[in-house]
Amino acid sequence: MTDMTRTATTTTDTGTPVLDASGVTMRFGGLTAVRDVDLTVNAGEIVGLIGPNGAGKTTFFNCLTGLYVPTEGKVSYKGTVLPPKPHLVTQAGIARTFQNIRLFANMTVLENVLVGRHTRTKEGLWSALLRLPGYKKAENASRARCMEILEFIGLQDKADHLARNLPYGDQRKLEIARALASDPGLLLLDEPTAGMNPQETRVTEELIFAIRDQGIAVLVIEHDMRFIFNLCDRVTVLVQGEKLVEGTAEVVQGDERVVAAYLGTPFEGAPGADEVAEVEAAEAEAGTSTTKTTTTEEEDTR
Ligand SMILES: Nc1ncnc2c1ncn2[C@@H]1O[C@H](COP(=O)(O)OP(=O)(O)OP(=O)(O)O)[C@@H](O)[C@H]1O
Ligand SMILES: [Mg+2]
Repeated sequence: MTDMTRTATTTTDTGTPVLDASGVTMRFGGLTAVRDVDLTVNAGEIVGLIGPNGAGKTTFFNCLTGLYVPTEGKVSYKGTVLPPKPHLVTQAGIARTFQNIRLFANMTVLENVLVGRHTRTKEGLWSALLRLPGYKKAENASRARCMEILEFIGLQDKADHLARNLPYGDQRKLEIARALASDPGLLLLDEPTAGMNPQETRVTEELIFAIRDQGIAVLVIEHDMRFIFNLCDRVTVLVQGEKLVEGTAEVVQGDERVVAAYLGTPFEGAPGADEVAEVEAAEAEAGTSTTKTTTTEEEDTR
């Protein structure tokens, strides 16, 4: 409840649009992974994007960041239509993390953040190769900024550790640090707490509030509903590539279609229903406690 109060007091719905995606459609051959999706994120907002596995959330992120060229639709950042090229999108001010962690495993923590910084350094190739004074100065400034970001994230003591030696939760944090190094105005997070324990999730929640308080708008995909509803000013629900509903945590939680599609009882004959039943039966047989949790959730949603 305390968390809900906090979300309510920090809601800033009235900001100007930072991200404005309209009519975004992405087809892969005969499969329409994202269909005609509109989504805005305003300055000062944390917006959640939820939906069942395969709903098209990551595909939508890929369309926003130029990794995919949408079949239809356009994406604007602060009023300017973005070309679908990842480096131009980053340069414009959108940074992201990936569902599957993408770090340079054999580089140090600081080096990984420096890589994220490169779009903001103006020194050219020759300057770097010849180690001209301008390059040295720029490099020192980059290092100082990246150390600042590591302090903000809480990884400053591990700056010299190899990324691959970090615990999983720290690797996720490092991905966020690397994204922040490009000085974004909008941060896209694809399942930032996947695989984290409740304590780490809580820390990440605080971190995202702190990022927003620094003037960076956030769009976040997550399956952890408690995390999403504590954190987000607005939540958009994607189901089978289409936007089902959008609104505050209360609106989304109270929408029966969302409950049916995502939070509780699956649609009759919905894709995956057989698999769910199969897993539940196997778990019941193995005597795990998951069955109990599932039953409770079903009861809650009735
Ligand atoms: N490059 C691709 N080529 C063909 N199909 C794809 C491609 N990328 C995604 N898809 C398909 O698009 C649909 C949406 O996938 P996507 O990864 O966007 O879902 P998601 O909502 O992020 O799911 P999850 O919660 O499991 O991460 C899926 O059916 C997926 O198989
Ligand atoms: Mg995904």
